[in-house]
Amino acid sequence: MVKKFDFLIIGSGLAGMSFALKVADKGQVALCCKTGLEEANTFYAQGGIASVTKTTDQFDKHIEDTLIAGDGLCDRAVVEKVVKEAPAQIEQLIRWGVDFDKDSAGHFDLHKEGGHSDFRILHHKDSTGAEIQESLIERVKKHPNIHIFSHHFAIEILTQHHLGQNVTRHTDNIECYGAYVLNMRTNKIHTFLAKVTMMATGGIGNIYQTTTNPEIATGDGIAMVYRAKGQVSNMEFIQFHPTALYNPGERPSFLITEAMRGYGGVLKNSDGEEFMQKYDKRGSLAPRDIVARAIDTEMKMQGVEHVYLDVTHKDPQETKDQYPMIYEKCLSLGIDITKDMIPVAPAAHYLCGGIKVDMDARTSIKRLYAAGECSCTGLHGANRLASNSLLEAIVYADAAAKDALSIVDSLSYEERIPLWDDEGTKLPEEMVLITQSKKEVGQIMSTYVGIVRSNLRLKRALDRLDILYKETERLFARSVVSKEICELRNIINAGYLVIKQAQERKESRGLHYTIDYPKKIEID
Ligand code: FAD
Ligand code: SIN
Repeated sequence: MVKKFDFLIIGSGLAGMSFALKVADKGQVALCCKTGLEEANTFYAQGGIASVTKTTDQFDKHIEDTLIAGDGLCDRAVVEKVVKEAPAQIEQLIRWGVDFDKDSAGHFDLHKEGGHSDFRILHHKDSTGAEIQESLIERVKKHPNIHIFSHHFAIEILTQHHLGQNVTRHTDNIECYGAYVLNMRTNKIHTFLAKVTMMATGGIGNIYQTTTNPEIATGDGIAMVYRAKGQVSNMEFIQFHPTALYNPGERPSFLITEAMRGYGGVLKNSDGEEFMQKYDKRGSLAPRDIVARAIDTEMKMQGVEHVYLDVTHKDPQETKDQYPMIYEKCLSLGIDITKDMIPVAPAAHYLCGGIKVDMDARTSIKRLYAAGECSCTGLHGANRLASNSLLEAIVYADAAAKDALSIVDSLSYEERIPLWDDEGTKLPEEMVLITQSKKEVGQIMSTYVGIVRSNLRLKRALDRLDILYKETERLFARSVVSKEICELRNIINAGYLVIKQAQERKESRGLHYTIDYPKKIEID
């Protein structure tokens, strides 16, 4: 069946929903997500969203902090854009109903996280993402032009390739006409034709064994764009959050927000000794790449699987008031954080790279925009500054909306796209092949492409992933399409891009650290 919309949005996190709200007065919008509307990385965000909002802070300081964290690879113009547009986008979130905590004088109650030179993180207790996600869901549900397709899985974007034309990676006139989308309730594949498509599918945490990301984060958008010959970059820069709660077997790993270190939390080793000063003078509040590597080194030196975050010296009532979700979660596991140290270990958390976009969020494929974690804007460079990603998502959704609104009237639907053809396929008899292969991808990536890398490890990872790639493509060709087989293809694709782009970087920079090239290459 064919459906037509002015705007097709794939993903209902902050990037997708804020774009929807900004274009919906102009035309009909399809908002697709592969589970319910809530389940997105956005929902899980704890610490908050960075913005200069008080008179004693300055744009220049936020810009400088972002550039320092990015380790020489940020695009300065992008950093300036995002930082300067932040206050207006915060106002927009508030108009949409988002409630940021305030102090008794009515000013924003600002937190500080690693790499920030000032208190500038707006938050809603320790569940900022849930507050944002729920407020936006309420809004999109009320808009008459926004049509919500939950449990709809986007399989591929539509380009000239589907008209039988030969499209190569370096063609500069590839166009996107929408997507093939699987309705997971009926198992039917629909052709969604669109004048404009927005990719907002979030991150790739699930290519690793241990991640803070929910199950939806399988790199689908990045894989779809890569297969459609679009540009994808900076995939080697995977951010491992230093402090995920150590609770073996729990997936996703529960996050212990970095704001707790801004609040005074101190990292300690298994002997109860502070160790961060050995690695960086900023101690527990050094940027994430440094803290995650320090923890990794300490764990390896001591032969243990976690270190500790200690907030027992802080006022117990204040801890409970400021971090109610973390307090309750730990208590449910028998850890009273006002008395006990919290066991923590790094976990895959955020992808700095992704689908390459320009300052209007345009991808290398015409009529296709990307925003949020699946995109690579140039803001984060080699390492993202904490709480800059929610900010990037809303600023770039806004840029995309402005550009899309200016072109949508000049575009028409590409009616010649054929329906999805699944002739000759049948249900996979062995679901176990898919689930087992997914686990194997996680093992390969965590073992060989983690916090510390080497030429040998990357080569080994690529060789092993290649076997899974070939097996999976054969299975895909003879299977009726399912979310499971598509996600497996996508995590293999995303893993491949991480490894290949890591191999191309012959230096250690930001989040990419390799023992074979421990130094940075000078940038002119
Ligand atoms: P998401 O919010 O992840 O949304 C992705 C959407 O895409 C989902 O709706 C999903 O269903 C849909 N989707 C994916 N694939 C498909 C498909 N094939 N078909 C259809 N739909 C699809 N950042 C901060 O700035 N501050 C924080 O405090 C913070 N804390 C975090 C805490 C945790 C535990 C995590 C995991 C992340 C945190 N981040 C934080 C990062 C931040 O939350 C994300 O980068 C951001 O929310 C991403 O938003 P998004 O809109 O790009 O994607
Ligand atoms: C956190 O709360 O520590 C996460 C913040 C982020 O990922 O930006």
